[in-house]
Amino acid sequence: MKNKSLVSINDFTREEHVRILELAGAFENRPKQKILEDFVVATLFFEPSTRTRLSFESAATRLGARVIGFTDASSSSVQKGESLRDTILTVSNYCDIIVMRHPKEGSARFASEVAKVPIINAGDGANQHPTQTLLDLYSIMKTQGTLDNLNVAFVGDLKYGRTVHSLVMALCNYNTTFHLVSPLELKLPSSVKLSIKERNLEYHQYTDLQEVIPKVDILYMTRIQKERFSDPLDYEKVKNAYVLRNNMLGDSRSNLKILHPLPRVNEITTDVDDNPKAYYFTQALNGVYVRQAILCAILGVVD
Ligand code: CP
Repeated sequence: MKNKSLVSINDFTREEHVRILELAGAFENRPKQKILEDFVVATLFFEPSTRTRLSFESAATRLGARVIGFTDASSSSVQKGESLRDTILTVSNYCDIIVMRHPKEGSARFASEVAKVPIINAGDGANQHPTQTLLDLYSIMKTQGTLDNLNVAFVGDLKYGRTVHSLVMALCNYNTTFHLVSPLELKLPSSVKLSIKERNLEYHQYTDLQEVIPKVDILYMTRIQKERFSDPLDYEKVKNAYVLRNNMLGDSRSNLKILHPLPRVNEITTDVDDNPKAYYFTQALNGVYVRQAILCAILGVVD
């Protein structure tokens, strides 16, 4: 993984995914080690973020790295009309690795082609969010003891949800049975569904959430991605399509865990938070260990 960019989840092999999870386990046991003291990490966020940016910055800082960057492109020279190419070429001179979030699909791939340092895609539009996927895999592994042969439900905005796209692709390596719950307007794109079909894996599509809950080991809830809709009226029609309440979990499996990449709006009511099956805040914590593992693997300080 040394010096490789991580733009798509498929840029790393299944074996490399497993290695990241092993390394993340080691960092969870010992998160404060000064093994990145010689490195500078740049975080360029052209789109809002709480978890991804702060967990990357926490991961880097706890390992002794320096962090530079911006949280809002309006405070950078992009505001003056500078291109993404020139921004990336310039920032490449100041750091050893760039973590970038951008609203345009394909922007992270473009950045990786012009940058002199590795690029980590922290989300490019509705396309992919590979580091979220690695922390999702880590969370599934920790809670289920395996990644193999699980029933996983994806619920909500399967069209625009980049975390869904990357995780579906990664789980195609593990004989997963997919349960895809969405409004008809927000079904999983055929390009992502192709990954499931190519592996001859089972998938079922639903519009009703309740009938899926007893069938699954992982319930992956997602927010309807308001910012991706070109017509606000289309968003209004689907914004409350799915709301998970605690009283809906009565028939769920004993090993069920509820994941959500967060932020949530109203798709999980707060009465679910105290249910032991709710795992989304621990999932967000796992992001620190997984991102420590990703930084160290790409910077080449671990094998
Ligand atoms: N899960 C996730 O990407 O969260 P943020 O948008 O807060 O980074």
